[in-house]
This record gives sequence, C-alpha cells and structure tokens, in this order.
Amino acid sequence: MSAVIAEQSAPSSAVARFLSRRPQLFINNEWVDAKSGKLIPVIDPANGRNIASVADAGEADVDAAVAAARRALEHGDWADMRPAKREALIWRLSDLIEQNADELAELESLDNGKTKFMANIVDVAGTRNYFRYMAGWATKIEGSTIDVSAGGPPGTKFQAQTRREPVGVVAQIIPWNFPLAMAAWKLGPALATGCTCILKPAEQTPLTALRLAELIAEAGFPPGVVNVLTGYGETTGAALVRHPGVDKVAFTGSGEVGKLINKSATDTLKRVSLELGGKSPVIMLQDMDVQTAVGGAAQAIFFNAGQVCAAGSRLYVQRDIYDQVLEGVAGAANAIKLGPGLSPDTEMGPLVSSEQQQRVMDYIQAGRSEGASVMAGGEPVDHPGYFVKPTVLASVNNSMRVVQEEIFGPVLVAERFDDLNEIADIANATPYGLSASIWSNDLRAVNRLIPKIKAGTVWVNCHGPVDPNMPFGGFKQSGTGRESGRAAIEMYTELKSVCMMI
Ligand code: NAI
Ligand code: MG
Repeated sequence: MSAVIAEQSAPSSAVARFLSRRPQLFINNEWVDAKSGKLIPVIDPANGRNIASVADAGEADVDAAVAAARRALEHGDWADMRPAKREALIWRLSDLIEQNADELAELESLDNGKTKFMANIVDVAGTRNYFRYMAGWATKIEGSTIDVSAGGPPGTKFQAQTRREPVGVVAQIIPWNFPLAMAAWKLGPALATGCTCILKPAEQTPLTALRLAELIAEAGFPPGVVNVLTGYGETTGAALVRHPGVDKVAFTGSGEVGKLINKSATDTLKRVSLELGGKSPVIMLQDMDVQTAVGGAAQAIFFNAGQVCAAGSRLYVQRDIYDQVLEGVAGAANAIKLGPGLSPDTEMGPLVSSEQQQRVMDYIQAGRSEGASVMAGGEPVDHPGYFVKPTVLASVNNSMRVVQEEIFGPVLVAERFDDLNEIADIANATPYGLSASIWSNDLRAVNRLIPKIKAGTVWVNCHGPVDPNMPFGGFKQSGTGRESGRAAIEMYTELKSVCMMI
C-alpha cells in the first residue's frame, strides 16, 4: 500500500521563469546580490532534485535591510501615510495574490511538497484573505480618552488619551510548513499598523516569499517597508535577532529555536512573539458516531502530511468506540495516495526535506523500540524524495517520546481512555499547549471540559480551522503572544499615554 503514484511533472512556463531568475535579496524595493555571493540550493522534495538557488544573506545584508526598514519607518511616504492609503496598498497586494494564485500555488507545491490543490485552496486563498482582513484594521486602530484625577496647580485639569503606535522595525522569521501563509500572518498586522519588516523565510522554502516581494513592489509599497532576506537560521536569522536596530522579533518554528531567540532578544529587550508548535490532543467521547470520529481524527493528523503546528497528533478515544475508531483511522492511513505535489491524483505529498524525513522515521523507530504497535505505515517508502507513509501507533503510554515530543510528520499515537474525569489531565500532560479538539454532542460534557484544557485553541467537533479574526497561539511551551484578530494588532503596536494639562 501507499506506493508513490507518479513522478513530478514539469513546471509551468511562469514557474520555470521564476526558478531561473538571478538569486537575489529584496532590500529597499531593489533586488541585490548577497554581499558574500553565497547561494542556497532549493530542492524539490518529491525527488530530491535541485530546482533553483537563492541568495544567502549575511551580516552586511542584514545591516542593509535593517537600515532600509528604519528609514522607511521614520521618514518619508510610509511614515506619513494615511491609514486609508495603507489599507488600499494591502488590499492591492491581496488582489495581486489572487491574480497570481496559480503560479503561487505551484511554487509552494514544488518548494514544500504539499499538493498544488491544497496550496491553492488553503495556503494561497488563506494568504489573500489574511491580507484582506488585516487591510481593514489599518483604518480601525484606536486608543481611549481617559479621565485622570492627578492633582496640579489650582484651576488646572488634566486630559489624557492613549494612542497605538507601530512597534517599529520587525524581524519576522517563519517556518517551511505554510511558507506563504506564515508570511501573511507576519506581514499583515505589521503593515496594517505601520511597522516596517524584514521577513526571513525558512531555508527549505524561500520561493513564495520572493515572489511575494515582487508583488509587494508591484502593489506600490514604498522602499524599505518590506525587505525579504533568504538565508539560514543560525546565521541570517540569528543576526536579525541580535540586531540593535530591530524592535520586535516574531517567530514561528521549533521550541528549541524559540527559546534561543527569547534569550538572545533579551540583550536588547526586543518585543518577542513566539509560536512554537505542539502535541495537540484529539479527544473522542463515546457518543461520537464512528465514521465522523474516523474522518475527523485522520484529517487532524494527516493534513499537510502532519507538518502542522496544531496537528492532532495524540488521539484519545473513549472505551466503547476505541477499537472501531482505531481500525478506521488505520484504514484511512493505508488508503492515502502518496505522490508529488503537482500530480492531480496525489493525496499526500512528501515531507519538506530529507532531514525532516529522517527525523520522523527516527521517531517511528523510537516508538517501536519503546513498545508501540504499528497499526498502519511505519516502514520506509522505496522511492526518491522525502516520502513517509501515514503511520498510526497504538499501545503507547505517556512516558514515550512519541507521545511527549512533536514529531511534525504523518504519525499519530492513539490511546484508549475510560473515565471522562481523567481525560483533561491526560490531554494536558505534555509541555505543549497550542490546541486541542473535543468531539462529542454531549453539551454538558464538552462545556465542562473546555476550561480544563490548557491550550490556546480548543476546537469542538472539528480540528484545525483558523481564521484571521480568531486569536491563535500557545499556552505553556507552545509560545507567547497571539496572532490574528485584535490580538495581533496589539502585538504590533506600543501603547502610548498622552497626558495634557488644560
Ligand atoms: P526551526 O525552528 O529551526 O526553523 C524555523 C525558522 O527559524 C527558519 O526560518 C529557520 O531558518 C529559523 N532559525 C533556525 N535557527 C535559528 C536561530 N538560531 N536564530 C534565528 N532563526 C533561526 O525548525 P526546523 O529545524 O526547520 O524544524 C525542526 C522542528 O521544529 C520540526 O520537526 C517541528 O517539530 C518544529 N517546527 C515547528 C513549526 C511550527 O509551525 N510551530 C514549523 C517548523 C518546524
Ligand atoms: Mg532547526
């Protein structure tokens, strides 16, 4: 089962043209070579082939981008721009994304491995919608008027107000699982609030960020407002985090790097927001109809080949339906068609990199050696490219690494539970707290469970929907701060009090 169904197709002419462009950085609305001249290869994960190169930004390039962002923040068109003009520019960008949707989806599929179909309906459409939502915020930023009782010379009074002002120059370091959408989650609120940005895409998936930079220039954003630096995390990323000219770092990625960033940013007391993934529980109560439970659990873990921060990677099913649900999910895993992202019949693409494939296969091996039983998948795929079979592990317990650690691949661990009173403790027993889902139509049970779950998002009878208007982020080691909605606008602004004697 699960053999790879096809070979990767040739790219369209628009994508072929983009892949062969000169590898450059986007600084101050200009395309420039990295000062070192170093390049990073871009790999198609469906076959391991080198399809393009991008520039490797070093310290001097970081300095140039930060200087451009600082100038744009403090002087000139962007600094003086009326909110309605910012709104119009962001909306124009969303229109350009829509007009170039097919090319963006193809690039995302080639770079990341996901299917072009999903790239289109999830990543590209989500990106367009995210910018549209954030465009609206540009004209809705407000403070308060405040009555104060402070005393002054006789006959005087005080009048106070608050203002929200852009937090400043923002470094935005994003991961490879939803490259374009993560760029939108970072750039959208920053542009709405009048910040300026240096975006660093992941070294595994730089292509759509570069195409987005072209669209940003075409939309008419002034020079320096958005700069895009391709490069490695340990060099380009770390230099941005250290840089004294950066006011805020926004990061999505591993917990390990999130902690490093938090420490490094302390030296200059930068504002930091971190979204660090999870080990999210899917909790099926036994009133659930089995077919719905199977479909929901499979989608929660296998969407985007499990490379999702909020993936439902731990399945807990209540006793009466456990055996049936487990059997159903294993069957669903075995039925998924693996193939390259551009093939229309593919249901799941490869993982993003050979490193990620190796990491996931190592976890499966660790699960086996710790005593888990493999209900589906598990064995390697005999095909070039970074494919991993959808895998279901049962007979697990809470001390196993596969239950405690984020695997970030199509690997589900499943356990039975008996008593509703114990499930919140079980669900909370990892260092993470990004999300969870509860599946049941027992209103009373669900509403009693929601407050006990330590997670930034709790879904009920679904797992995964995100929305630009719905705050998203983590409890515990899943991060700090909330993206989307008003919360994101607050994260990209400083609150200033103005007190006037009258
Ligand atoms: P990573 O955390 O190393 O990479 C994410 C981003 O951070 C990339 O842009 C990378 O270049 C940058 N980065 C890396 N080291 C840095 C540093 N020292 N300073 C500044 N920036 C740095 O993630 P990686 O290594 O690609 O994946 C490892 C694991 O991380 C995955 O298996 C998964 O568990 C988790 N992960 C979680 C994501 C999420 O959405 N929360 C996304 C990607 C990975
Ligand atoms: Mg890393």
